[in-house]
Amino acid sequence: MLPKESNELITRTGPGTPMGELIRRYWIPALLSEEIPEPDCPPVQVRILGEELVAFRDTQGKIGLLDEHCTHRGTSLFYGRNEDCGLRCIYHGWKYDVEGNVVDTPAEPPDSDFKKKIRHPAYPTVEAAGIVFTYLGPKEKMPLFPNYEWVELPQNHTYVTKCLQDCNYLQGLEGECDSSHLSFLHRTFDNDRAQALYKMDSAPHYEIEETDFGLRLIATRKAGPDQTYVRVSSFTAPISCWVPARNRETHLYVPADDTHSWRYDLGFLKDRPVREDEVHRRKQIGPDYRRIRNIHNHYMQDRQVQKTISYTGIEDFLNHDSCATESMGPIYDRSKEHLGVSDTAVIAMRKFLIHAVKTLQEGKEPPHIVRDPAKNNFTHVDTIAQVIPSNIPWREFFKHLTKTGQAKGSATSKPRQMAS
Ligand code: FES
Ligand SMILES: [Fe+2]
Repeated sequence: MLPKESNELITRTGPGTPMGELIRRYWIPALLSEEIPEPDCPPVQVRILGEELVAFRDTQGKIGLLDEHCTHRGTSLFYGRNEDCGLRCIYHGWKYDVEGNVVDTPAEPPDSDFKKKIRHPAYPTVEAAGIVFTYLGPKEKMPLFPNYEWVELPQNHTYVTKCLQDCNYLQGLEGECDSSHLSFLHRTFDNDRAQALYKMDSAPHYEIEETDFGLRLIATRKAGPDQTYVRVSSFTAPISCWVPARNRETHLYVPADDTHSWRYDLGFLKDRPVREDEVHRRKQIGPDYRRIRNIHNHYMQDRQVQKTISYTGIEDFLNHDSCATESMGPIYDRSKEHLGVSDTAVIAMRKFLIHAVKTLQEGKEPPHIVRDPAKNNFTHVDTIAQVIPSNIPWREFFKHLTKTGQAKGSATSKPRQMAS
């Protein structure tokens, strides 16, 4: 269990909260690139960390992420006109560029220099893999964007989906660190290879190691008399986890407010472009980025299917995860839970976050803040699902899984085979 004070500490993320301040020190997803697909397209509202923001792509294709409410008298800029390299408020015509400069105040006298004295809050952005990332922390503390393997891949080698979760971000993030639920929540009554591996040993053994990006979570299951099924996930501070899904994926949970979060699933293939039919989750999400199967329709659970086809009677992994985590309630009171050995990785991740919050409160730099370009190399962040001989330690197979990118052998990598 987690005492109520610790639960409050790591679940509340609005402005001024300790966890909110921590998350604001990192680059986090604000929206998808597809939401502002072309220059001068309509602006969109962005709700993250309890903030009300608006995003737009200007005439030159530059992205602006601004406070939603006009600096003049607060009208929403979402209704504004995106024209001639700026977003113009519809109330009195004040206009802002992507950096928050007030470039026009047409209701003021022509000789007024009022606009030069005012600045509208604006946040930096980086576009990568179809996601617009932002940094909401103090300007002088802005880190480098971590150079993960997917950052420089051509966009057609990556795919991404986004959907709203009706609960606090931490419930979703915990699910990503929890390998043991695979053997139950995602079980079907087929006997394909991946399912057989989940079922053969439903009580994985965990190893956790602290790294320079967060935690490496290694779950091993018996896969026969002399074989071991190894699943490696990487919790990357503060809100994402790399998991071995059909491809290698990183799942990011951005608080929208304290009782809602945005789940981003970013997948990538190093060697070839992604085919549209590989992104099965897209069918589960409506144009408003809400899941079609959701808590309001009981995930369209089919009790007959639950008897004969799958453990849940619910379609798709995405909805299984959401059912498990949203049905805990908007913010689960973790003082009521009873944690077992199967929760080892979840416990480790919570402790890591609590420690990171305290580190920041003490005025020190939190973990996985990248400042040195020479050390901005994260090939040692990875995710793997593979069966190996039991008499060989997993580390022998995956030599690139070092604790820092600087360690000896970090450039070596074995061919990977995804088993699920
Ligand atoms: S409130 Fe926006 S220009 Fe007046
Ligand atoms: Fe899951």
